[in-house]
Parts: sequence; structure tokens; C-alpha cells
Amino acid sequence: MNTLIVYFSKFGHTRMVAESIAEGLEAVGPVRLLSSDQLTPSDLKDVEFVVMGSPTHRMNLPEAVRPIFENLPKRILRGKSVAAFDTSYRMSPILARFTASKKLAQKLRKLGGKRVVPPETFHVMEREGPLYEGEIERANTWAKAILERIEDHKA
Ligand SMILES: Cc1cc2nc3c(=O)[nH]c(=O)nc-3n(C[C@H](O)[C@H](O)[C@H](O)COP(=O)(O)O)c2cc1C
Repeated sequence: MNTLIVYFSKFGHTRMVAESIAEGLEAVGPVRLLSSDQLTPSDLKDVEFVVMGSPTHRMNLPEAVRPIFENLPKRILRGKSVAAFDTSYRMSPILARFTASKKLAQKLRKLGGKRVVPPETFHVMEREGPLYEGEIERANTWAKAILERIEDHKA
């Protein structure tokens, strides 16, 4: 499976999570990691699975991430599997509704992507990190669980 992981990271933690997810997915094919400011429509050609990740900023997608969706043709993700994650503080269930991954998941769906797992959050202790212990491993496990889901979808 040819995978593209697109991430935005201000302090480096979302990138670390993205790298751990990449490692988990590499078992089944090539995985390319790309910073969101580098993404162009041609990067999505020939890709079967697209993962997007970003920190939550002000209970939303960071402003730096929003323009990337304006530059993508409608339905460009049709027929592709998609998944979204974010890094955020540990929040109450009410505030946890407002994460970057939920917004990313909406955008990916709107572009025609097939959601294979619900959006996931990995937690940081403070604004500039670090991640809580075990989050990098959890990201790797999340990736492996995604692979099982994709196999189920195909079956
Ligand atoms: C301007 C700004 C706003 C933030 N707002 C939120 C927020 O609303 N909710 C939250 O959980 N974390 C918030 N954070 C914390 C970020 O989620 C945290 O910086 C991020 O997970 C670290 O990831 P990074 O190292 O990839 O940048 C905010 C951080 C910044 C810089």
C-alpha cells in the first residue's frame, strides 16, 4: 500500500507522532512523509492511503494548515483511504470535541476520502511538549490497527 502522511508541526511533536505512524505502516509498502506546506495535488496521485496530522490550535486547525485545502481539486481523494490525527492537551470530553483531527477528518471526507478509523488524538503535557510517555508507541500501535481495518475493508 502506497501511503502519504502529511503533517504540520510547530514544535516537532506532531512530526514525531507522524514518524512513528510511518514506521507502523512501512510493513505494507512505501510511506512518504511530507510537511503540509510542501503538499501539491501531484503528491496525491498514485497514493492509496492518506494520513493527515496537525496540532490543535485554539480548538481548531492551525491557520497554517487551512490554505492547503484551498489548493486541492474537488474529490481528489475519491477512492483513497484516509485517517486523521492531532496532538493536543488532555481535555475534558466536551473540549475534546474541538480537535484538529476532527476538522482534518471532515476536510478529508469532503475531498472524497474513505474514513477507515475515527480521528485520534495524541497528548502533549504543555504547549511546547513533551508528549506524554507512551504516546509514540501508541501512535505505532494505532498505525497497525489501521492496517487491520484496511484489510477488513478489502475483504
Ligand atoms: C497558538 C496555540 C494554540 C493552542 N491551542 C490549543 C488548544 O486549543 N487545545 C489544545 O489541546 N492544545 C492547544 N495548543 C497546544 C498544541 O496542541 C501543542 O503546542 C501541540 O500539540 C504541539 O505539537 P507540535 O510540537 O507538533 O507543534 C496550542 C498551541 C499553540 C501554539
